[in-house]
Amino acid sequence: MASDNDARKNWLYLTTPIYYVNDVPHIGHAYTTIACDVIARTSRMSGTPVFFLTGTDEHGQKVWQSAQKMNLSPQVYVDRIMPRFRDLWKTLLISNDDFVRTTEDRHVKGVQAVLEQLWKNGDIYEGLYEGWYCMFDERFWTSKDVTDGLCPECRRPVEQVSETNYFFKMSRHQEWLVSWYREHPRSIQPESRYNEIMGFLERPLEDLCISRPASRLPWGIPLPFDTRYVTYVWFDALLNYVSIPLSRPEGEETLGRLWPATHVIGKDILTTHAVYWPTILHAMGRLPPRLIFAHGWWTVNGEKMSKSRGNAVDPQAYAERYGADILRYFLLREGQFGQDADFSDTALVGRINADLANDLGNLLSRVVAMAVKYSDGGRFVRPKNHVPAPDLLEASRTLLPEVPRLTLDFEFHKALQALWSFVSILNRYVDNRAPWVLARDPEKKDELNAVLADLLEGLRLVGVYLAPFMPATASTLFTELSARESITGLSYETDGIWGKLPEEIALAPVSPLFEKRNPDGTVQKETRTASRPQDGAQSGDSRAEEPAGGAPQMATAQPETPAFPPGKPAIDITDFQGIELVPGTILAAEPVPKSKKLLKLTVDIGREKRTIVAGIQASYTPEELVGKMVLVLANLKPAKLMGVESQGMILAAQTQEGVSLITFDRPVSPGAEIR
Ligand code: MSP
Repeated sequence: MASDNDARKNWLYLTTPIYYVNDVPHIGHAYTTIACDVIARTSRMSGTPVFFLTGTDEHGQKVWQSAQKMNLSPQVYVDRIMPRFRDLWKTLLISNDDFVRTTEDRHVKGVQAVLEQLWKNGDIYEGLYEGWYCMFDERFWTSKDVTDGLCPECRRPVEQVSETNYFFKMSRHQEWLVSWYREHPRSIQPESRYNEIMGFLERPLEDLCISRPASRLPWGIPLPFDTRYVTYVWFDALLNYVSIPLSRPEGEETLGRLWPATHVIGKDILTTHAVYWPTILHAMGRLPPRLIFAHGWWTVNGEKMSKSRGNAVDPQAYAERYGADILRYFLLREGQFGQDADFSDTALVGRINADLANDLGNLLSRVVAMAVKYSDGGRFVRPKNHVPAPDLLEASRTLLPEVPRLTLDFEFHKALQALWSFVSILNRYVDNRAPWVLARDPEKKDELNAVLADLLEGLRLVGVYLAPFMPATASTLFTELSARESITGLSYETDGIWGKLPEEIALAPVSPLFEKRNPDGTVQKETRTASRPQDGAQSGDSRAEEPAGGAPQMATAQPETPAFPPGKPAIDITDFQGIELVPGTILAAEPVPKSKKLLKLTVDIGREKRTIVAGIQASYTPEELVGKMVLVLANLKPAKLMGVESQGMILAAQTQEGVSLITFDRPVSPGAEIR
């Protein structure tokens, strides 16, 4: 993160994009926010003061259209969706210092003040726009940008428009911007993104249309000098980065202390941040951002994640199922931050079982179990004049400082690799020193305690360096080790060095830090994390019968009397998980020739379209079915009905009058997970 401005300013002002509330959060949003949180926590632990800002982008066409679809006023709509983001950040343990909503007064005032300033300075002028417009991206395009009538960005059809609007004289800042970037090549990262922007800036920069007629789009911040117009959503949104510090006490000084900011964004919004934004700042008389880091995108099971595919991964659901820390770990360990990465349950379960349950969870369980077993009622005392094992000490000094260093360079996966190398060294140390063998010889009591003391200290250090990534796990580690009360106030300088575990600590057997998972994500019935037989086998250690991880999770014994009244036999959750139920939209319906009962339906289940034959002709006309969202049993073996292959079943309740289809009481995407 070192940059030209470091010497001058000590603060880290870190921002995420502000997220559109036209839809609920997905894993792409969580990715940026988690990454920023890890940077923020690491910086705080390094002694850097941090101001970390996130929030929601609540104006513009997309949000307006979503509100209209739901028949709600835009304000009611945004008030309803915004908490999904705010609450998700709580669930994911995000430590932001403020949360901006672009509909807040403090932001609106800030935007209007900047518009006034630029208008007075002659940086904004009125002009006629004639050309192409992409409704979806809310962007104007010239004829040379558009081929086959499609938007060059999102490939949706563009429209011809001719309207009077206001323009920001972006073109006049081009020369300055190019020379700024030449002098500050590290201010856009990764390097490939810097090259992309320098390439973009080789073509002449046009002026930026910063208004939309309120008659066409009434949802936005009115231009203070012409209220027939609202502000273009991107001009409005980018300004959040200055409007919020300015709205805080001693606004100008606060901004002066924080600015310039570090913006973390996705690769798709690089031009707006690396071209529009610095030119706006330059017109305002402020410095461009310190750093813009554009990360890659997540695909899901190898496919692009999108609303229409219905494969968006819901971070709230994943955090509830696995815990926030696991999602945080997975997202930052699995991909390289600047590159695209793929999300799949298989990869997630793989990481949980190998890195988390086996490597780390198992290490904690076995070390604490041995320390409890071989000490006096769990009161573990470090031997007098204890000298740490040189190999471990050396590893802690070389590997661990790499963790914050790589993190602050946005190399999260490498930072975690470095930390896990240290975990592996501790695991090998257990195996090599075999405390259970030392325990057999009363003369080796001090040696045994020395080995355990080093392992406990190593685990404490793992907690310190893990804290920015997995704050809840670090907290648990500290509690289990009686190392400290909480993670608040942790610092690398005082806590990140060897030898800070109190001389005497109280220990008790721990339950597994992480539960192992089956391929479908369910908890393995026996979450025995102690998978190394020698812990017990070689020594007669009682953990051969009683696993280090404590009692197995989820007793397997079945109750003698059935839990339910007679009906179908009770099933296990795994039986239920074998059934694939998904929401589907009926796209077309027609009678099956020669049948009085059957209708042939075309149903969109998100990932594909299915032909489904349903015996519902007596209850529904084809016309009333089209557009209906129904519940589909998607993994029923295909069967031919009156010569037509049916690839699934639509679920309905039998009533005396006929059948009633199962539908949804709120909008859902085809293919959404049913649980
Ligand atoms: N509102 C604008 C940002 C304004 S910032 C002044 C916006 N919002 S967004 O909600 O559409 O997107 C926010 C972020 O999510 C972007 O950084 C985008 O790159 C990111 N992602 C959207 N889909 C993504 C993936 N599939 N994977 C990773 N990040 C993705 O744009």
